[in-house]
Amino acid sequence: MDTNFNKAKKILEKNNQMHVIPFLKNGKNDAIINQILNIDFKELNNLYKKTKENNIVKKDELSPITALNPKKLSKKELEELEKIGQDIVKNNKFAVSTMAGGQGTRLGHDRAKGTYKINLNEEDKYLFELIVDDLKRANIRYNVVIPWYIMTSKENNKDTVDFLEEKKYFGYPKDFVYIFKQEELPLIDTEGKLLIDKKECIKEASNGNGGIFNSMLKNNVIADMEKRGIEWVFIGSVDNILLKNVDTLLIGLTCKKGTKIGTRTVLKRSPNEKVGVLCKQDNKIEVIEYTELPENISNLKDEDGDLLYGESHIMCNLFNLEAIKKCSTKALEYHVAVKKSEFLDESKNLIKPKEPNAYKFEQFIFDSFKLFDDIAILRGIREEDFAPIKNKEGEDSPQTAKKLYESYWKNSKIMI
Ligand code: UTP
Repeated sequence: MDTNFNKAKKILEKNNQMHVIPFLKNGKNDAIINQILNIDFKELNNLYKKTKENNIVKKDELSPITALNPKKLSKKELEELEKIGQDIVKNNKFAVSTMAGGQGTRLGHDRAKGTYKINLNEEDKYLFELIVDDLKRANIRYNVVIPWYIMTSKENNKDTVDFLEEKKYFGYPKDFVYIFKQEELPLIDTEGKLLIDKKECIKEASNGNGGIFNSMLKNNVIADMEKRGIEWVFIGSVDNILLKNVDTLLIGLTCKKGTKIGTRTVLKRSPNEKVGVLCKQDNKIEVIEYTELPENISNLKDEDGDLLYGESHIMCNLFNLEAIKKCSTKALEYHVAVKKSEFLDESKNLIKPKEPNAYKFEQFIFDSFKLFDDIAILRGIREEDFAPIKNKEGEDSPQTAKKLYESYWKNSKIMI
């Protein structure tokens, strides 16, 4: 009879991964054997081939996309949209999901990013706590308890659960918090070879924030939402400390427009800012990375003098539950990033590369937009909506986010 060890060995031979065979320890390393039996090598080999392709966007395939600037609406129009959104929240049809499965490599915080602490207005606050604060404000305002779904990775799930337990969910009712794990994919080196980690297993990493839909399906999140009667879900990042998770204006606009998805953007600061912008490519809704946008296009202005390709995607995503269901059964494309990743060589020496040596494959949430004919885009205000913590220092760092946060709350009329 073919044992799992033999099956794993054959798979490795067939896929030219013989360097992994010694780590199977003649069948005594169950963990790695299970990993090998579960890896989709066909997909992995295709992804490796993709790393060798050139993905330059042709400019004639692109066209701009318009956002609603709320400054152009009358008070009455704004109130109408607000009311639609608020009624959905008040009627318990709304939930929030936080994407917290990222590795936060740029920040260099060695725990789950939501456990990162920042001093704001002379008070220490954790990133998870700031989201709880935001949800609690809305709960009081609309007299509800909004369900909160947190996506973690296999790497940071335990840390997240332990942290939130220790902090007693910052006073959020535990029955309304649902923590789930996203999927992983192996990392491969530039020759397409699997890497081995310190535990003598295949090195894997979470599959990007676009993995959220599929993970919601697999982890019964969608079923739980249905049970609770949820119709609309805001999906946001863990690291924007000005994020408005309960964006009633965006909900109202999306409903009024009759679309299944919506997003709040901010206008790109300059053509060179390192953000992805919304546009249409071959008539499909896309977010194009700044690196992919040809220079002559990124400079174009509209009649208001704003950048024509300037609506930056800032991870403020609104999805109807029907839209989440649709995305959960589709395979989003993978993007490739080259990262520095340490590994064990065949003699079990730990190699710490000085240059990027590994391909990481990630799905992006915004690639789901192209599955829909239309999207509601609401233009936000950078100083009010966007204070991300990405880097240890410099731009989009704790220092810049703190400044934005403190200035916003100093000027805000909203009561804490
Ligand atoms: P980023 O792409 O900025 O990644 O994530 P990151 O992990 O925070 O930081 P770097 O790139 O390693 O420095 C944007 C949002 O998507 C989530 C992150 O937690 C963040 O809220 N994310 C990212 C996931 O939930 N899963 C992933 O696999 C990747």
